[in-house]
Formats: sequence, structure tokens, C-alpha cells
Amino acid sequence: MIEEIKSREVLRKLFNEYKNEYNPIDNDYTFVCAYKLDNTYVGFLIYTLLYENAEIIDIYVNPNYRRRGIARSLLNEVINNKEIKNITLEVNINNKSAIMLYNSLGFKEVSIRKGYYNGVDALLMLKENDSMKDVYILGIESSCDETSVSIVKNGSEEIITKTLSQIDIHKKFGGVVPEIASRSHAECITIVIDEALKESGFTMDKIDAIAVTYGPGLAGSLLVGVEAAKTLSLCFNKPLIGVNHMAGHIYANNLVNKMSFPLICLVISGGHTEIIYMNKDLSFKKIGGTLDDSVGEAFDKVARVIDVPYPGGPVIDKLSKIGNPSYNLPVPLDDDSYNFSFSGVKSAVINLVHNEKQRGNDINKEDLSTSFEDIVIKTLTTKTMRAVKEYNVKNLMLAGGVSANSGIREAFDELCKKDNINLSVPKLAYCTDNAAMIAAAGYFYYLDNRFSDYSLKINPSLDLDYEK
Ligand code: KG4
Ligand code: ZN
Repeated sequence: MIEEIKSREVLRKLFNEYKNEYNPIDNDYTFVCAYKLDNTYVGFLIYTLLYENAEIIDIYVNPNYRRRGIARSLLNEVINNKEIKNITLEVNINNKSAIMLYNSLGFKEVSIRKGYYNGVDALLMLKENDSMKDVYILGIESSCDETSVSIVKNGSEEIITKTLSQIDIHKKFGGVVPEIASRSHAECITIVIDEALKESGFTMDKIDAIAVTYGPGLAGSLLVGVEAAKTLSLCFNKPLIGVNHMAGHIYANNLVNKMSFPLICLVISGGHTEIIYMNKDLSFKKIGGTLDDSVGEAFDKVARVIDVPYPGGPVIDKLSKIGNPSYNLPVPLDDDSYNFSFSGVKSAVINLVHNEKQRGNDINKEDLSTSFEDIVIKTLTTKTMRAVKEYNVKNLMLAGGVSANSGIREAFDELCKKDNINLSVPKLAYCTDNAAMIAAAGYFYYLDNRFSDYSLKINPSLDLDYEK
């Protein structure tokens, strides 16, 4: 917990423990933030504030409490102070880890102060909190089978997106082969980054931060993107932002229209089926989720049993348009909760196909696709529209690969028109994985100073940071 210390007596006691010679400056432009843990002060930050310019005088963290992000939290306290526009600090030129921390928070090197620390040079660093400034984020997405790089302005305006899909490579295996996917990312990532920069005419000096998916996804694939992002960040001295892939899917909507809160978002992808409530940026409250398979998995599985090529979702989408709902399938989890269960209907399709084959009967793929999709649409729309009413929101968003499904989009469109709800759906191309959505979400991490350092690790099963 961070608190601002006003009492000079407490300050004096605190500083005595730190340096005997320390003499806290008694004036009204010096401020102290202290980090309290287990009822003791374990770190503090002193800064002076003249008009909107802050100068960090000292940051101290008790050696027993280092490497826990305390210095970062203290700095964020100053950075998040809306009255402060410019923050400067000096750092010993040899203190590489501190310089890395400041860089990761968006501080830039301004000049060198010769011999400042007993003969050793100091680096003068500056962070400008200019809310009017345009922010350009370079996004990298490589969590599954698309190598994608994008530049997005202010989280909403796409400058360029370059995506290399591996669908054709994985098609012959009937699904994504993780080892092949990561190899292909490694071979292509530099080329895609280069193309995005060249085609947009952007150089790295115009980029404000690098945002990258660090989970959830395939471990080897995620690693390629994260390492590429760290390299760019290190070489060009740009802050690094680790972005949750699912937050990316949600923020694909911000590339269409600025998101309005409060809202309900139905996230339907290859790995997720969730109803999320948001009352502000990056605040995710999960109100329902799948108890077993995701919708995307169910689409892909059904596609496989009726022998349509990978990826199955889009093909089922097409077939269902020309079929009739002639097959009788069970309705999944029709209860009062906001949870979903698609394994029952998936198994029913598998059994039906199996039984018909044994009887020597042909399956009508179009009719089965329509029957399956109708049930999925009914379940998704019933629960989501109930959540919209119960949470009393006027804004509904769809997100994730399955939101590309035309039947699902049309059904929600009709219901929302009837109920006067603003429906937002991502651009068709940005329902499935892409880097524009990562750069868009990255912008909001940027505004919130949620930067990562080089210890950022991939997390294949990363969950959204849910509000309790
Ligand atoms: O979001 P996404 O690209 O990857 C994950 O983050 O999981 O979603 C992929 C899923 C796959 O299951 C794919 O079959 C499904 O989205 N999908 C569709 C359609 N387009 C993609 N499902 C139904 N109809 C579509 N048109
Ligand atoms: Zn995805």
C-alpha cells in the first residue's frame, strides 16, 4: 500500500533508518510517498513539484524487499498524478537495472551530467505525461497460427497491419501443429515487422511502445512474439507492454468505435466462451463462462466429424446458410446462470454422425450445420441478452474468432435493434487473431502505465485480470 507521508516526525524517523545524514527538506514543494507492507515502511520516493514539473530526488527500497516491484509502484504513483506533466530524474550511468526500469516506464534519456556522483556520470531522464500527444503502439501477435504486426494510433486508428497466416501449412494436418507454428513464427516475424514499418513509412523513433501478446496461447508461438518485442524494446529503447490476448480480442471493438461503458462483452473464440461486464477500461468482471468446451472448439469438432476442412468454423458458417434445421439436437445448459456447456451438443453431433454412418445413411452436412448453429445461436443470445437486461447496460460487444460467424452477428443485430441496445462487433478481419487488437489494447495499458520489464514471461494459460 502506498501512502503520502505528511508528518515531518515520521519522515525523520524513516530517514534516520535509511541514512543518518539525511535531512528531509522542510518546504511545501517536496513530497514523499512511502510503501507500507506489514505495517512497516519498506520504501519511499521523494520528489519536488514546481508547477507541473516533478523531479524525483530519491527512491529507496529496503534491501529485504527489493525485486518485488515496489520502486515501480512508487514511480507509478507519481506518474499517475494527473497534475504532473513532466518528470525528471538522475540516475548513475552504471546502474543498468534502474535505467531499464525507468525506460520501461517511458522515461527517455535527455542528457549526461558529467561527474555528478563523485566523479561518475549521471543520466538525466525525462517522462512527459502529455495527454494531448498522439500515441503510436506497435503490436505483435503470435499466440497461435498468425504472425501479425500492426501500428495503431491512440488505440483506435489502425495505421497498418501485416498478417501472415499459417492456415495453409496446418490445413493438411487438420489443426494447428504447435512445433510447426512456432518455427514458422520464428522464420517470419522479422520479415513481418520490417514489412509493417516499410509499408507504413514509419520508423521506430515514431513508435511510443511495443505491445505483445504474452498469453494465453501456444507456448512456443508466444515465445517468438515476446522475444521479438523485447529485442525491439531493448534496441530502440521503447517501453514494453505485455498484453493479454483476450483483452486484445475485446479491444478489437475499439478499432471500430470508441467503446462506451458500462458494457457487456460476449467473448467467443477457440479457447474462450465468456460473458464479461466492464464499467471502465481494462476492468473485466466475468459473469459467466464455459463449464467445458468453448464455442470455437465445438464448431471445429463438428466440422471435423462432418469432414469439412480446417478451420471448420467458417465452413459451418457457410453451410448453415443453405441448410434446414432438420436434425434434433439437445439444448445446452438452459438454466438461470450465465454459464455455458457445449460438450453435450458436440457429443450429440458426433454420435449422430457415427450412428448414421453405421446405418449406411448419408449425412446432410448443410442441415446438420444449420441445426448445430441454430442451437449455438439460441444459447448465446438468450444468456447474453439476459445479462444485458440484468446489468442494465445499453452497450453490447462481441469479441473473438467465433464472432466472425454471420448467423451469430445477424441474430444479435436483430435482437439489439429490437431492444434498443448498441451492438458493437469487430471488423470481420479482426474477429480472428491479429496484432491491431493487441496494439489497441496496449494503448490502454500504456495510459495506465502498465509496462512490463524484461522479466516478462509467456503464460500459455493466462486468464484475464478479473475484478472480484
Ligand atoms: O479468436 P480466434 O482466432 O483464436 C483464439 O483466440 O482462440 O478463434 C478461432 C476460432 C476457431 O475455433 C474458428 O473455427 C472460429 O474461431 N471461427 C468461426 C468463424 N471464424 C472463425 N466460428 C464460426 N464461424 C465463423 N465464421
Ligand atoms: Zn484469439
